[in-house]
Amino acid sequence: MEVHLHEAHRPIVAILTVDDDTQHFRGNRSNFIDLIKTGKELGFLVYVTTCKELQLNNKRVVGYTYSSESRSWTQQLLPLPNVVYNRIPTRKDEMLPECQRAIESCMKHPAIRLFNPYFFNKWTLFEWLKKSRSTRKYIPTTRKLTTAAELAKLLKLHPMLYLKPERGKAGAGIMRAAQVPQKEYPYRLTIQDNKGSHTLKFATLAKLWTKITKTAASEEYIVQQGITLASMNQRPFDLRLLVQKNYKGQWDVTGVGARVAGLFSITTHVPRGGSIEDPEKVLISSFGSDHAKKILVKARHAAHLIARQLEKGSGHLLGEMSMDMGVDDKGGVWFFEANSKPMKFDEPHIRKKSLERIFQYSMHLSKQRSKPGGL
Ligand SMILES: Nc1ncnc2c1ncn2[C@@H]1O[C@H](COP(=O)(O)OP(=O)(O)O)[C@@H](O)[C@H]1O
Ligand SMILES: [Mg+2]
Repeated sequence: MEVHLHEAHRPIVAILTVDDDTQHFRGNRSNFIDLIKTGKELGFLVYVTTCKELQLNNKRVVGYTYSSESRSWTQQLLPLPNVVYNRIPTRKDEMLPECQRAIESCMKHPAIRLFNPYFFNKWTLFEWLKKSRSTRKYIPTTRKLTTAAELAKLLKLHPMLYLKPERGKAGAGIMRAAQVPQKEYPYRLTIQDNKGSHTLKFATLAKLWTKITKTAASEEYIVQQGITLASMNQRPFDLRLLVQKNYKGQWDVTGVGARVAGLFSITTHVPRGGSIEDPEKVLISSFGSDHAKKILVKARHAAHLIARQLEKGSGHLLGEMSMDMGVDDKGGVWFFEANSKPMKFDEPHIRKKSLERIFQYSMHLSKQRSKPGGL
């Protein structure tokens, strides 16, 4: 009897993605399987559904469940979810009319909670963080990349600048510009592409600007004060934090990892030769044990404040985000970006906790009788 009662009240989480012509749905299937397994262990019904199939005026929705025993997916008609976990894979998918419709209808529905409705844009993140004194101190000077004159002005203030596409990820399209005075070719541009990175030298700002606009093509870019990152064995590193809401619906740092840059890379991404390290270890190697502990505390504190401010700025309900943070050579902490569709953390303890938190927070959301006003 108890089992039945429990069954009847079992909270339902739908993982939202997009449909696919040959395999029903797209997205990171192994992540979906991990979510379904974790959800099941914690007493949830979890299924995958697509923007096209999530029609809230129907009582039931086409969903896909996974059986670990038979290692197979089953298409079924399932009850509407209490919580929708948005894993629409790309910005391009998110723009599709059916995805816009699905996201909006979930946000409007009185009994369904969807968090993280949209991808972040690198420029608006900084606009939101500038607004609060508690977060302003962690952000490097950031502007939209508009004119050569603006770039020249920033190069006078900061000898090294990062240029990043507003909608970029995994290091794609990132450039680094620098000015080295008293040289024949004082302007330097390092471009990162799939083969690695290479540096070009220019005699004039005009020539540098021509190359930048050509490389940026039609993408919108931000230009940002470059931070001289602390390094271990001459390799710069940065911190990657996972911040999620917990069972009380409060922001909490789930885990911190460190990423050490690959040789000749201007970023720390693992697919670009970067490697995963223990944050304490890399920080201790640069700063010694006492200072390292303080830096970690500072980074966690900053991440907490930043998550709150980003949620406020976005005006939407958020439940998780990953953050990239740099540590400069003096131990100062800098925010580089946040991602509203965090990639899986490979550190096993962070991974396990991150999966559990999704459901602890979903439980919190499904216990709320109705949507509070505002968020
Ligand atoms: N302002 C900066 N100063 C120094 N390094 C930076 C700066 N911005 C980015 N980086 C380096 O480049 C990496 C990628 O930048 P990020 O903003 O996270 O873009 P992406 O979306 O491509 O991951 C960071 O993790 C960091 O190593
Ligand atoms: Mg990043």
